[in-house]
Amino acid sequence: MAALVMPELKTVGALLIWARQALLQAGVCHGAQEATWLLEHALEVRSHQLVSQADQLVPHSIWALAESLIARRVAGEPLQYILGSQEFCGLEFAVNPSVLIPRPETELLVREVVRQHRAGHRATLVDVGTGAGCLAVTLAATLRGAKVLAIDRSADALQVAKRNAATHGVLEAIEWMHGDLLAPLAGCGLEGRVDVIVSNPPYISERDMPGLQPEVRLFEPHLALVSGPLGTEFHRRLLQDALPFLVPQGLLVMEMGQGQAAAVHKLAEDIGGYAPVDLIDDAAGIERVVMARKLG
Ligand SMILES: C[S@@+](CC[C@H](N)C(=O)[O-])C[C@H]1O[C@@H](n2cnc3c(N)ncnc32)[C@H](O)[C@@H]1O
Repeated sequence: MAALVMPELKTVGALLIWARQALLQAGVCHGAQEATWLLEHALEVRSHQLVSQADQLVPHSIWALAESLIARRVAGEPLQYILGSQEFCGLEFAVNPSVLIPRPETELLVREVVRQHRAGHRATLVDVGTGAGCLAVTLAATLRGAKVLAIDRSADALQVAKRNAATHGVLEAIEWMHGDLLAPLAGCGLEGRVDVIVSNPPYISERDMPGLQPEVRLFEPHLALVSGPLGTEFHRRLLQDALPFLVPQGLLVMEMGQGQAAAVHKLAEDIGGYAPVDLIDDAAGIERVVMARKLG
C-alpha cells in the first residue's frame, strides 16, 4: 500500500481528498461517504460547504481533530462511536462504547409492539437490556401514557439511555432499573401486571464470537453481545422469568440471531405456559423476532 502524503496546503479540499484516500486505502467500504460525514463533524459544516469552502485554510487544531477521527476509523472503530450517534426509528440516539449501536432490524420489535397495542389501554411495558434505550425511548415516545420500565445490568448503559430519553422528552415517562434481567421487578407489585416484555438480549454464542467482524468484536461491549455457550441462554431465562410478570395474554417479544428460531421455538414449548410462538422475518428474510403470548 502506498504511504499517504499529507498535503502541504491545508485547505478544506485537500483535507477531503486526503481523508477519502486514507479510508479507501484502509478498505473502509463506503470510505468516500464516511470521509464526508467525519469531516462535516470535525469542521462543523454541511457536506455542500466542504465543496463550496474547498479553498479555505483549515485551522491547525481542526486539522488535527479531523486527522484523529480518520485515524480512529482507519483503526476499525465503528463510525457511530466516532460520530457519537445512530438513528433508530427516525430518532437520533447518542452512543458510546458502553452501549451496543442500535441496528435497523431491532426496529421490528418496535413495529410489532406498537401493532399489538390496544388504543386507549394504559399498557405496562418492560424493556430488558435497554442499552442506548432505543426500544424503551421509542416506545415511550410512540405510546404516550404507557408505563415503561427499562432495565440493564450496565450502569454506564443506563446513563446513555437516560440521556437519550431526556433528548426525546421521555425521561420521566420511563422507570430506570439497574440489575439482572427481570430481577429488579421483584417486590414492585408487578406480578401478573405487565402487558409486554420486549428484549434484544445478547445472543452471540461463545463459539461464534471469534468469527464476528472486528468492528463489532473489538469495539462493542462484550456484555451486550455474548450470551453463553449456546447463544440462546437469555431467551431461555426470559421465557421462564417473564411468566410470573405477564398478564394473561401478555406478550414476550425478543430478537434472535440467524438460525436460532428453531431452538427458541423449542424452548418456549418445553417451558410451557405460552401459545405457539410467532416468528417474524427481517428485511433479509431471517427469522429475527419471536413473539410468545402467555396463555390465559
Ligand atoms: C444486544 S444489547 C441491546 C441493547 C438495545 N436494547 C438495542 O436493541 O440496541 C443487550 C443489552 O443487554 C444488557 N445486558 C446484558 N446482560 C444483562 C443482564 N443479565 N441483565 C440485564 N441486562 C443485560 C447489555 O448491557 C446490553 O445493553
